[in-house]
Amino acid sequence: MEGLGYSYKLDVQIEVQSDCYFSLKLSLMETSSPIQMTANYHPYPEIDLHYQDWPLDLLMDYIVNKHHAYVRKTLPHLLDLSAKQVSAFGLSHRELHQVNQLLNKISIELTMHLEREEVVLFPLIHQLLAIEAIGGPLVSHPRSCLRNPVATMEGDHGLIVHFFEEIARLTNHYEIPADADDSYAVFYTYLQELESDLEQHVHLENDILFPKAISLEEKYL
Ligand SMILES: [Fe+2]
Ligand SMILES: [Fe+2]
Repeated sequence: MEGLGYSYKLDVQIEVQSDCYFSLKLSLMETSSPIQMTANYHPYPEIDLHYQDWPLDLLMDYIVNKHHAYVRKTLPHLLDLSAKQVSAFGLSHRELHQVNQLLNKISIELTMHLEREEVVLFPLIHQLLAIEAIGGPLVSHPRSCLRNPVATMEGDHGLIVHFFEEIARLTNHYEIPADADDSYAVFYTYLQELESDLEQHVHLENDILFPKAISLEEKYL
């Protein structure tokens, strides 16, 4: 993306060793929990539920059902609202054009990112938990299966957070202009809610889920 110092990628591939965890003949179908989407979620209020103490399978289900479902439900509405603000106020508020571009990039990046987690990384962690349940060890792949996909996910998080920092700067931290109408105000409010939700979502993954999964894997390498 111009001016932001990041290369922008469109593929959903992440590097995982082909033999990861399969030596124990545990298939994704046998070890992964089915993903259920919850439609009616609102990001507030967020309270400390002692996530640090949760089992990792529960934490992953929570992340998918709460945060991933929220993103999928909210993004189409936000993109629609964003386009409407550009049409209505784009001449008097030039920053709306850049906000709209950034939001579209966030949408593409975040949609791929959720897919990567649900199709690759979370099933790997579910398999690791299944291996732990039967006492390990990982017999045929002494190298880490998680480090590459985790590093990719953390990179995605950094890029998406950076896009939101740009939006916050452009909008003067979501300050609603004096000439804004209700639709404009709702757009900034929802945009800020998405940023807040993402902050908590990234915290659960970067600070709790990923380090715990890596250290669990290290027990069996
Ligand atoms: Fe996630
Ligand atoms: Fe993530």
